[in-house]
Amino acid sequence: CGIVGYIGKRDVAPLLLEGLQRLEYRGYDSAGIALHGSGTGRAGGLRTAKAKGRVRDLEAKLPPRFAGTAGIAHTRWATHGAPSDENAHPHLDDAGRVAVVHNGIIDNAAELRARLTAAGVVFASETDTEVLAHLIGRAEAETLEEKVRHALRHIEGTYGIAVLHAGFPDRIVVARNGSPVVLGIGEKEMFVSSDVAALVSHTRQVITLDDGEMATLTADDYRTYTTEGSRTAAAPTTVEWEAESYDMGGHDTYMHKEISEQADAVDRVLRGRIDDRFATVHLGGLNLDAREARAVRRVKILGCGSAYHAGQIGAQMIEELARIPADAEPASEFRYRNPVVDPDTLYIAVSQSGETYDTLAAVQELKRKGARVLGVVNVVGSAIARETDGGVYVHAGPEVCVVSTKCFTNTAVAFALLALHLGRIRDLSVADGRRIIDGLRRLPGQIEEILRGEERIAKLAAAYADAKSMMFVGRVRGFPVAREASLKLKEVSYIHAEAYPASELKHGPLALIEPAVPTVAIVPGDDLLEKNRATLEEIKARSGRILAVAHVEQEKADDTIVVPANEPELDPVLLGIPLQLLAYHTALALGRDIDKPRNLAKSVTVE
Ligand code: G6P
Repeated sequence: CGIVGYIGKRDVAPLLLEGLQRLEYRGYDSAGIALHGSGTGRAGGLRTAKAKGRVRDLEAKLPPRFAGTAGIAHTRWATHGAPSDENAHPHLDDAGRVAVVHNGIIDNAAELRARLTAAGVVFASETDTEVLAHLIGRAEAETLEEKVRHALRHIEGTYGIAVLHAGFPDRIVVARNGSPVVLGIGEKEMFVSSDVAALVSHTRQVITLDDGEMATLTADDYRTYTTEGSRTAAAPTTVEWEAESYDMGGHDTYMHKEISEQADAVDRVLRGRIDDRFATVHLGGLNLDAREARAVRRVKILGCGSAYHAGQIGAQMIEELARIPADAEPASEFRYRNPVVDPDTLYIAVSQSGETYDTLAAVQELKRKGARVLGVVNVVGSAIARETDGGVYVHAGPEVCVVSTKCFTNTAVAFALLALHLGRIRDLSVADGRRIIDGLRRLPGQIEEILRGEERIAKLAAAYADAKSMMFVGRVRGFPVAREASLKLKEVSYIHAEAYPASELKHGPLALIEPAVPTVAIVPGDDLLEKNRATLEEIKARSGRILAVAHVEQEKADDTIVVPANEPELDPVLLGIPLQLLAYHTALALGRDIDKPRNLAKSVTVE
């Protein structure tokens, strides 16, 4: 979900709509706005507009003369309650004097709702957020800040909120616990959002609130303080990403733009980090000295979705280059199985947004148990970046499409850097260090080369788009590539896909193979080439169609996408890129909503 708010001199509705559009990628099943009405003859009255659907549906539904200079807005991804006009935020109290937008989840909402209902409150929606509006509306306190503070005392769970109150038209009060809240500081105008994406076209001066922090915004000032009321000293920082990096830049979709940007993105993750003299890399924010790095006995990598798959590639790189046993696990599984937290294990949390709730909660659980946790994160200053002890920024730039492409690639490269660094202070040779560095330097050029093959991949996508299901197979280095490619295809094209280690095919999934179920096989020219060829034979013998992604043309395959070879350890970075294009063009051929696949959200800040 996404929050945006504004207070200043300008007409707020168009500003909020523009902000919502920038946030729509975070969640998009309904949207709404509340503002302090002006020119309506009802001075001090709150007005709201809500709509199920996209921001453009909300825009079409705005009532006449829906104007004011202070307001809050929200785009939602349903958790409590189905998408509908009623369940869209902002939520009001029963007197219509308080409006709240909320990201996160209120764990004790059912209990609070029962208590409020018993006290005579009539609820207008099924959401957890509405309890907050009623609690604020009923709080007995002089100031809006006090009212919000009173209400929050009853709340268990996570929130990023922004509140308007008819009795306090000069201010917006916001609070954060677990869901991001960023203030944008302008000239005689203030903004608030859950994401800098909605702010950068207006100001690059931002303040990210901490958990347990609140703020009051007025047209020409801001104040931050804790939920207990003591002032905090938050100074604005400058956002490094340009406003243009959030635009589509001539592409039809963000997905296409982000796939196309990968050579530059990889260049950025490498920039300033390579040390040719010692055949290693510098990772300034790692916060793990050589002695500590040598003491690591095991590495455990945690993430969700594509970040988890990038972590699997990372685990293999760390095992191969640093010879430390390493594996990756979905963050949610890890946190619910009461894992043994071992002092000799280095934990690494991976996340594009830095705010995925399951990953963040895994980090917090680990910290509670005294573990050392690093982050491999894209969004600078995000919750996971702050909560970890150090780490490696991925520097992919803003990623807007719900499905991850450039950030996935950059994360894999960031892991290569980390693996090389760990290897060189353990037992990786200078020669191998040089070999990997040379390989890293070749990546951007090779990515360009792969992207030049787009037209052919588009044709292949059209030829395979009638598949009823698709099988993705790979061995060892190729397996996480297959998993990510399978995820990519299903999320963006809605074609069912499954990923399997190639050798496991014969233990079950081979039963599914038929002409309508083609296989995409990852076949790098490494020491497993012959084994992979044997798998292609097995599939061919069952009349399966095969699309191979390989370093040389594969005889047994119906089609091969030839990808340039790098060093074997780095090949996974490149092998997946044509399959991002395959997923994109399949979705395009099927007329899917590429940047915003149904039912999904970019940042899942709830459990
Ligand atoms: C969501 C997105 C995925 C993403 C995952 C993890 O499910 O749809 O594309 O990989 O979250 O997000 P993170 O921001 O932690 O990398």
